[in-house]
Amino acid sequence: MRRPIVVGNWKMHGSRAENARLIEELGARYPANPVADCVVCPPLVYVQEVGRLLRDTPIHLGAQDVCADAQGAFTGEVSAAMLKDVACEYVIVGHSERRLLYRESDQLVARKFAAAHAKALVPILCVGEQLAEREAGRTAEVVQRQLDVVLELCGAETLGQGVVAYEPVWAIGTGRNATPQQAEEVHALIRARIAAQDGRIASETRILYGGSVKASNAAELFAMPDVDGGLIGGASLKADEFLAILAAAGKR
Ligand code: PGA
Repeated sequence: MRRPIVVGNWKMHGSRAENARLIEELGARYPANPVADCVVCPPLVYVQEVGRLLRDTPIHLGAQDVCADAQGAFTGEVSAAMLKDVACEYVIVGHSERRLLYRESDQLVARKFAAAHAKALVPILCVGEQLAEREAGRTAEVVQRQLDVVLELCGAETLGQGVVAYEPVWAIGTGRNATPQQAEEVHALIRARIAAQDGRIASETRILYGGSVKASNAAELFAMPDVDGGLIGGASLKADEFLAILAAAGKR
């Protein structure tokens, strides 16, 4: 059985005071022995402090991005080793906002995945099509291409030690989530693509859905056989919403 996992991507939101309030509430209300893994990914400048706030909770620490290179003259970048050094455990790579707004290529994303894995971080690889691509019937092609570049560079074994997140770009921050059937269709495709290399790894790889997940739609999305949890943006900033989504994942 794959253990469900819910990741909160805070994006560029929060402040020291707001982070402390949110973690206090999550820590107080999230069960000590949860049946789902919970990860929060604060903005980089807050990662270390949030890590300290999480210390007595079962909630894990993640980051939103990482440099593909290990060390050196890369102004403004942060390495996987540095994230590890401040007790980070997970890192998102290839979020569509990074791919689209900062022009990150499939190849760069794959290198980030490899860099994170090399330092024993758990990379969370985001894949997903834009609206025009879906409307043109190109969803499978786009998602497979994004996945294949990582499979080619890192191999199935390494991919399976990370997490994959299917996030249709048209569903992110729009309030318009994919239907459970739309999500399941792409999740099954991702699993089949990994299975073409290794069936055992495919059956063990956790695949999250992201894009307008809320307390009100989480249960139906997480009920799908290949949806192993969620990558949550807006709703991860509200304790009530995020806790309800975690509870839905735990019932999976
Ligand atoms: P959203 O964002 O939940 O606000 O749609 C999801 C994401 O970008 O990871």
